[in-house]
Amino acid sequence: MQEARLLVVDDEPGNIMLLEDILLEANRGQICSCSNPYDVVSLYRDFKPDLILLDLMMPGLDGLGVMQQLKEEGGGRIPVPVVVLTADISDKAKRQALAAGAKDFLHKPFDMVELMLRIDNLLETRFLHLDLQRQNETLEERVQARTQELKSAKCRIAQYARDLEETHVEMLERLALAGEFRDDDTGQHTHRVGRTTGLLAQAMGLPEAQVRCIEQAARLHDVGKIGISDTILLKPGRLTPEEFAIIKTHTTIGAALFENGHSELVQTAHRIALSHHERWDGKGYPHQLKGEEIPLEARLLSVADVFDALTHDRPYKTAWPIAEALAEIKRQSGQQFEPQVVEIFETLPHEELI
Ligand SMILES: [Fe+2]
Ligand SMILES: [Fe+2]
Repeated sequence: MQEARLLVVDDEPGNIMLLEDILLEANRGQICSCSNPYDVVSLYRDFKPDLILLDLMMPGLDGLGVMQQLKEEGGGRIPVPVVVLTADISDKAKRQALAAGAKDFLHKPFDMVELMLRIDNLLETRFLHLDLQRQNETLEERVQARTQELKSAKCRIAQYARDLEETHVEMLERLALAGEFRDDDTGQHTHRVGRTTGLLAQAMGLPEAQVRCIEQAARLHDVGKIGISDTILLKPGRLTPEEFAIIKTHTTIGAALFENGHSELVQTAHRIALSHHERWDGKGYPHQLKGEEIPLEARLLSVADVFDALTHDRPYKTAWPIAEALAEIKRQSGQQFEPQVVEIFETLPHEELI
């Protein structure tokens, strides 16, 4: 109570002095007085009282008018408790004062003990209210701080996820590289086939993310060759049926490497490795899948793979000109390759695929 700030408003200096004496005697904090009702709002702003003792009958602006101004200042409600002090003992005056927003009402001449009890009651409520407000503010600040922490934690998790994804892709790229060196000296075949398959997927109108996934997974199509011996893999000239049977196992070896993968990339790599030598007419290997039984990615890749093999030197053959390779691809439409994929392949810029 000693820290309370009280504003006394009365046009009679005698009344002000009397109230000041009582309040000082009772040791109720800081007191500010004013006899001009027009000064109340600016005093409220500067002094920030916890309670206003307000005379009702004043010349010019009466207590009701002062409360109206305070209400406007408080955005619709009087922002500080007001005790009305008046010599008017009519019920009408009392009702008007309470309706205008006064928290209490006392008749002049007032009983000092009653006045102090009422002031103390109102101050206690006022301080409890301020306490609650402060607690709410603290709580709000804490909630904001936690929300901020949560946001930065989410950012960090997203960054970890990106790092993990990058690591994942990088590891697969390195695996592809291992396979590439088994396939040709330059390690370029699988790289080109990946690119061409990606272009095919894009020309098919597949979503951007899927195109990227297919392009990366396509580079791994022959990674199963890691498990085939050099004497067979790099043999110049024709393979015996037994040797060719061994070569065919690069599909199932590759598939075993990507078995039960969790990510879309590994699952796509699995489908491609296993099925890239299946044929549209069902005469391919290892499972003689036919038509749309063959996964789409593998149907795309088989065209890209054969075109690349035809247009480059191999241990058993020299590179074909693009036109001849293209004619061969078209000849195989509906047999080795899906006709729709061949049609789309014809629209690609073939010179750039070499
Ligand atoms: Fe292959
Ligand atoms: Fe290949």
